[in-house]
Amino acid sequence: MAQPWPLHPPQRLVVLASGQGSNFEALVAASGERLAAQVVLLVVNNPGCGAEARAARLGIPCQLINHRDHPSRASLDTALIAACRQVQADLVVMAGWMRIVTPLLVQAYPDRLLNIHPSLLPSFRGLDAVGQALAAGVQLTGCTAHLVRPEVDAGPVLVQAAVPVLPGDDHRSLSARIQRQEHAILPLAVALAAARLAG
Ligand code: GRF
Repeated sequence: MAQPWPLHPPQRLVVLASGQGSNFEALVAASGERLAAQVVLLVVNNPGCGAEARAARLGIPCQLINHRDHPSRASLDTALIAACRQVQADLVVMAGWMRIVTPLLVQAYPDRLLNIHPSLLPSFRGLDAVGQALAAGVQLTGCTAHLVRPEVDAGPVLVQAAVPVLPGDDHRSLSARIQRQEHAILPLAVALAAARLAG
């Protein structure tokens, strides 16, 4: 096995996911290998989502914090902060977290809140970045892992991977190619964020 990336101390990760959770699973897998980190909690906002099932299979605690139970984004983020504090999170990773976060969460985890986005930011911010790339006819797109700032899909880039758009690509094929790169760069981004904090 390759040498682990040195992280002192090992990082306690909370992952936020709304969908399938393939990036969450990639982080769990990396945590058993190169990444000196432990995924201590998955938070989901959609009951029955794929990420929840993955957590059960992987033996990772999962907490449902349903945005539909909260009157505002601030109320949702307050609940998220409480959950993260409860497990003493070092870093919080938005891995397909389809909610806009407020400055409350950003400020509670300064330079400790990460996001993965399926484009080469600053291109194709916001929803359906893959569809945007296909519509624009670009030949190259990719994914970005970055630190979160209050502005949506902005913040210092930690890692990017470029992905070609191939002739005949559709949304599904391009998304799958991008996701393979997301799974590779997100663990590295966690290591880089931790290293940045350590100075
Ligand atoms: C990823 O493509 C991520 O970039 C986007 O949402 C997707 C989540 O996929 N924000 P998964 O739930 O990790 O499989």
